[in-house]
Amino acid sequence: NVVDNIKARLEKACPGVVSCADILAIAARDSVVRLGGPSWKVRLGRRDSTSASRSAANASIPPPTSNLSALISSFSAQGLSIKNLVALTGSHTIGLARCTSFRSHIYNDSNIDPSFANSLRRICPRSGNDSVLAPLDRQTPTSFDNLYYKNLLDKKGLLHSDQEIFNGSSLTDGLVKMYAADTSLLFKEFAKSMIKMGNIKPLTGNAGEIRINCRKAN
Ligand code: HEM
Repeated sequence: NVVDNIKARLEKACPGVVSCADILAIAARDSVVRLGGPSWKVRLGRRDSTSASRSAANASIPPPTSNLSALISSFSAQGLSIKNLVALTGSHTIGLARCTSFRSHIYNDSNIDPSFANSLRRICPRSGNDSVLAPLDRQTPTSFDNLYYKNLLDKKGLLHSDQEIFNGSSLTDGLVKMYAADTSLLFKEFAKSMIKMGNIKPLTGNAGEIRINCRKAN
């Protein structure tokens, strides 16, 4: 895939120098820029881990069924503020989610626009079709813009966790309204938050390794 291709070309030009972690940090930035979003400076020099654990990763990453307080705690555990949380979820202006990620939101929740829920129920039944995809931003899923926040104001967030950041809490509702009204403010906060997230506990110096193949430790 894309990362393998980037890595293969880098290894040819300059073997053993650029980590997969740095490739991902740059690729995330460049993807956002390519889709019309903000740019930011990516500090480099991250090294790659020598092990990987799906269960350890899942223990730190909140599921889409999370409520607001769970989202706030899991971001705070990584040093990320409520402001960072609301800005970073704005990345759900692009991309897709599987039926299994939003099923309980469209069948069980009340904080969802009924006609939006109905249209999703047509493609995502109560059982089966688990992998059918729907856009996280129903309006412009391939543009980095602020329509994700406007969807939340209309109760048209795809994930339960997305709608939680605009669901009557004074901690986050105001931020959602601000980003829905002001794209340049969103872009500024998103860029700042991506820099902060990209600098969480990087491996540097002699820690870790430079992977040869991004899919596995050396
Ligand atoms: C607030 C906590 C978050 C939760 C609960 C969450 C949850 C999810 C879920 C469930 C999906 C769909 C996965 C699937 O169905 O296969 C998804 C997709 C995505 N998420 Fe998040 N996410 C969160 C934060 C973030 C952050 C901080 C970023 C980046 C800054 C991000 C970027 C994305 C992108 C780009 C996609 C689309 C992926 C694709 O189309 O392949 N998410 N997220």
